[in-house]
Amino acid sequence: MLDLLQMTGKQRQFVALLQSQPQVESLNRFCAQHGFDINFINGFVRSGALEGYVLWQEQIHPTWRLTAKGEDLGGQIPGMALADRLLNGITDRAILQAELGATFSLHYGALRREQAVDLADGEGEGQVVVLKSSVLAAYPQRQALFSQIAAGPLTVGQDETASGTASLDWLQQQGYVARHRTLDHCLTVLPALQNLALSDVVSALTSELILSGQWQQVTLKPYDIQAEVPDVAYGRPTILTQCIQRIRDIFLNMGFDEMSGGMVESAFWNFDALFTPQDHPAREVQDTFYLANPQTVSLPEDAEFIQQVRQGHETYYGGQWTEAEASRAILRAHTTTTTARRLYQLQGQDGKYFSIERVFRNETVDRTHLAEFHQIEGVVVGELLSVRTLMGYLTYFYERLGFKNLKFKPTYNPYTEPSLEVLAYHAPSGGYIEVGNSGLFRQEMLEPLGCGHKSTVAWGLGLERIAMLLYGVDKLSDLIGPEIAIRLNP
Ligand code: PHE
Repeated sequence: MLDLLQMTGKQRQFVALLQSQPQVESLNRFCAQHGFDINFINGFVRSGALEGYVLWQEQIHPTWRLTAKGEDLGGQIPGMALADRLLNGITDRAILQAELGATFSLHYGALRREQAVDLADGEGEGQVVVLKSSVLAAYPQRQALFSQIAAGPLTVGQDETASGTASLDWLQQQGYVARHRTLDHCLTVLPALQNLALSDVVSALTSELILSGQWQQVTLKPYDIQAEVPDVAYGRPTILTQCIQRIRDIFLNMGFDEMSGGMVESAFWNFDALFTPQDHPAREVQDTFYLANPQTVSLPEDAEFIQQVRQGHETYYGGQWTEAEASRAILRAHTTTTTARRLYQLQGQDGKYFSIERVFRNETVDRTHLAEFHQIEGVVVGELLSVRTLMGYLTYFYERLGFKNLKFKPTYNPYTEPSLEVLAYHAPSGGYIEVGNSGLFRQEMLEPLGCGHKSTVAWGLGLERIAMLLYGVDKLSDLIGPEIAIRLNP
């Protein structure tokens, strides 16, 4: 059925033209005459939209078209320019050569081949002699038909006067034109179309329409949400930013508050407050970035707190705990620094916190490792929290992202006991891969922070790992840096 409202402007124009005539013999010619794209109109007709309004019949016309040789002629057949002048009585060779320049011999050669001309000697020297004027006389028609075909296929039999046929035969013999078969349609317009009222349909509401009040009269074309629209390459957040936003939303919805901390930290908050001994291998320069400027970060002024940390370390690990080592400035190696600071602030108050921030490790950079990455940190402070609580939070969180079948594996952290490595199932590789680390903070850590009477569950998860799994990326350089593909979007 013809949907008047959904027709495009071109289609309406076409339908309106059809209304004014009972029959269209050749749709091809009709389109050429009125400036319609024949493929577009064929598509419209074949879509069945005009069913009940027109009858259409397929026709295959033999047509004349230019050959490749014909196309190469640049619009004029050889011989034409000279024939034209000779017909006008110009026979002086010097003049003809001056006028035709380098093409003289081309045109002369063409006429000579038909034995229509010759170069006179003796008495008429310097003249071009016409031997067969009938051949010259045929040229204007040959040229006219050639030009017509160059402008568009000419239906065979359309110019079937005897001379026309002879000219077309000649053009074909020369290899300038050839016969082809062209698909065409003949349309018969039915009364239903003639009686159709094509009201004015407006596709855009303009300020003129609104100001003039005309908008009340016109019929507005409804939106077609299926319509093809051009692809627009607009700016959008990178994948990593999108991931951060998604994860932030999940934790906010779980009732967590976001926390954040500085990238430059003291070894104290990164290690000592987390009950990591001063001779722990993670503190070596191979693992951690130590800063030259600033070289130190001052320790908390709370002397009792420092004393408790010192005592804890010296009692448990032995040896001497020094403030000098604890004050060394580093780039934080994990966001658990922020958690430690928050616990110290809370002094045993309950709460749920998360952060998604950047951390730095002195690692060899490769396809899946960079010296900096993001951690999704989380901590819950409360009563009677257990390994089950921890597994519950993590399972819930990863499920929101679509990761089911988590696995937990015992591991070791100086500051948690027990400690659980988190593994997620990675369908493409058919195996489990490590996505994070977690645990319950130890009493030795919680005590100096003023949270000794509480229990906690905490985790630090890799953001890039999640992003790579979610977006099917296997190189970090596809996620970070100048080569990231903007189009990489789920
Ligand atoms: N800080 C640990 C890491 O960087 C993660 C972690 C956080 C583990 C909190 C336990 C508790 O791997």
